[in-house]
Amino acid sequence: MRRKTAPEITARKGQEPIVCLTAYDAPTAEILDEYCDLILVGDSVGMVVHGLTTTVGVTLDMMILHGQAVMRGSKSALVVVDLPFGYYEDSPERAFNSAARVMRETGCQAIKIESGTYAAETIAYLVERGIPVMSHVGLRPQSMNVLGGFRARGRNPKVAEEIVENAKAAADAGSFAVVVEGVSAELADKVTKAVSIPTIGIGASAGCDGQILVTPDMLGMFTRVPKFVKKYSDMQSIIRDSVENYANEVKNRSFPGPDNTYKFS
Ligand code: KIV
Repeated sequence: MRRKTAPEITARKGQEPIVCLTAYDAPTAEILDEYCDLILVGDSVGMVVHGLTTTVGVTLDMMILHGQAVMRGSKSALVVVDLPFGYYEDSPERAFNSAARVMRETGCQAIKIESGTYAAETIAYLVERGIPVMSHVGLRPQSMNVLGGFRARGRNPKVAEEIVENAKAAADAGSFAVVVEGVSAELADKVTKAVSIPTIGIGASAGCDGQILVTPDMLGMFTRVPKFVKKYSDMQSIIRDSVENYANEVKNRSFPGPDNTYKFS
């Protein structure tokens, strides 16, 4: 089976909405692959898998390990891997080396970076050298220490204008799509109209060209999630109930039962 490509995602601008989710392991990627156009190995892995409080501590080695697992589990979605904080911001060359290593060692087809207008040179440098780039504007979690937290962005008209400019710069520099996170629906719609590439919303607007959520959030793995997350399941309760049943059955010796034990006669 052939994987979707970055140009195919770009061609979906204004067409059928692009379905995206994050994944960090092979079995989840295998399930998502049937429904998703694009799977993102997000640096959210640091928070939702490794228990970090922000994405700042995520390393390139972590992204590569999870990227390899997601590539093994999927066969048709476009797989995009995040470049983590500190591996691309200071120069286009550093960004290229990080991105090339991720693509070489995982086999993924594109990378994502959090970007402002300052990143245009890096985006163009990567794209010219064969690396498809998805950009990420609005609430940029890697900048949470500057922003003062994970609050929605763009209440202030100057910041709202900056977010539109960031998205335009990302598109003009050659990004194949742009994630728009944590902004008002009105601002997300403005960004979608302003750029020629697909906008992928998260905490944004149904008018974006596609949507993404952090999969463990939408599956209900956590009690507290951002307002924009819709929980499509309650995995926390499902896992808790299963583990409680298991623990009780181990204690009262009803597990393993006859169906779960070998009998050689
Ligand atoms: O790291 C991530 O999961 C992301 C999504 C929130 C878009 O960047």
